Amino acid sequence: MRTQVAIIGSGPSGLLLGHLLRASGIHCVVVERQTRSYVESRIRAGVLETVTTDLLHRLGIDAGLNANGLLEEGFALADGDRLFRIEITRLTGKHVTVYGQTEVTRDLIAAAPERGLEIVWEAGDLAIHDIDGDRPSVTFTKDGAEQRIEADFIAGCDGFHGPSRKAIAAAGGAAEFEREYPFGWLGILADVPPCHDELIYANGPRGFALASMRSPTRSRYYIQVPLTEKLEEWPEDRLWDELAARFDPISQHGVTRGPALEMSIAPLRSYVFETMRRGRLFLAGDAAHIVPPTGAKGLNLAASDVAYLSDALIAHYRDGSDAALDAYQARALARIWKAERFSWYLTKLMHRFPDDGTFEHRMQSAELDYVASSPAMQKVIAENYVGLPL
Ligand code: FAD
Ligand code: DHB
Repeated sequence: MRTQVAIIGSGPSGLLLGHLLRASGIHCVVVERQTRSYVESRIRAGVLETVTTDLLHRLGIDAGLNANGLLEEGFALADGDRLFRIEITRLTGKHVTVYGQTEVTRDLIAAAPERGLEIVWEAGDLAIHDIDGDRPSVTFTKDGAEQRIEADFIAGCDGFHGPSRKAIAAAGGAAEFEREYPFGWLGILADVPPCHDELIYANGPRGFALASMRSPTRSRYYIQVPLTEKLEEWPEDRLWDELAARFDPISQHGVTRGPALEMSIAPLRSYVFETMRRGRLFLAGDAAHIVPPTGAKGLNLAASDVAYLSDALIAHYRDGSDAALDAYQARALARIWKAERFSWYLTKLMHRFPDDGTFEHRMQSAELDYVASSPAMQKVIAENYVGLPL
């Protein structure tokens, strides 16, 4: 088979890129390792910046978002028993939208057939060939048979564990930067009303906790746990007890318990692979970078990468200009590093680090106290949280 752009991975970055290219008449195929039902049931992020919602509106794949997205005009930071609000809309004129990554993915997949976006599910043993030449290709197995897609360009949208970044690393000379954190997030999704109408990020003596939601009847909570912790060690009641103990007195009253629809533990990491392009292979989203989830930036960075990359590919086909393709890596990295900084800052501010002593705790308290009393600090946090401009 021959296409213009072969896209590896049907996460948010691959699906958004596919739709943006199709909307400009560019032929592309998405190749995904997993089944459709697996991809559609993965529970991940929940907070969308306007960068992301604008893309969904531009594509007209926004019926679910318009009907069910919750506009958030603020969120709370909690320090022990104290809770204060960051008024993001008053401070920036913008808002964020609570609408799950799971729903975004389902909406993009559902709209694919009518827009001529082909998705190959359950593609095994994918390999990438000839990225330095004029005719790169991907091979994979499907229903036991080997298939090859030749393309003008390959978009590596295959997440942190996919083959695209490895293909660039194998060619040598790549630059990567990493920081691992000594804890993970244990998350629970349940059909119970949220404890508060806005998100709460809480730092307390027992560690970090986040109260989030998917709808007025569905809650999403997370707590910081040591990396050694196993899911089997967390029966649901233990997690609900721990959540109640980590929030301020008013919010903890609002925590309603209910059966878990999903529970999982995710490690926290900051990671940037700066070589986002080699020859005709371009990386986007988690394939090139990971942020700790504290700033809710992972999915939104995938969307901004894809906004830059789709513009660049469209300019190549429409105007015959490769200037934007050549500028892609620098443009994307400028935004990525700022989101990395904010995610790292909020992670350090809001978590208990095992090696920290009383001095570091006092520093966290002093900083939170400063944020609570300083409109300037609140504005800095708000403008990063709603997302920096493209
Ligand atoms: P992905 O969503 O990872 O998609 C990559 C796709 O490529 C997958 O479908 C994968 O199956 C496919 N793929 C991989 N290898 C191959 C192959 N060999 N062949 C074909 N296809 C392949 N962000 C937040 O902001 N808040 C959160 O709470 C949050 N929680 C998260 C929890 C977990 C467990 C993880 C992993 C991530 C979380 N994130 C969160 C980050 C956010 O979900 C990601 O930033 C976002 O999914 C990035 O989208 P992507 O399309 O780049 O990558
Ligand atoms: C959610 C996840 C985040 O990482 C975050 O910062 C806010 C909300 C969520 O899954 O709802």
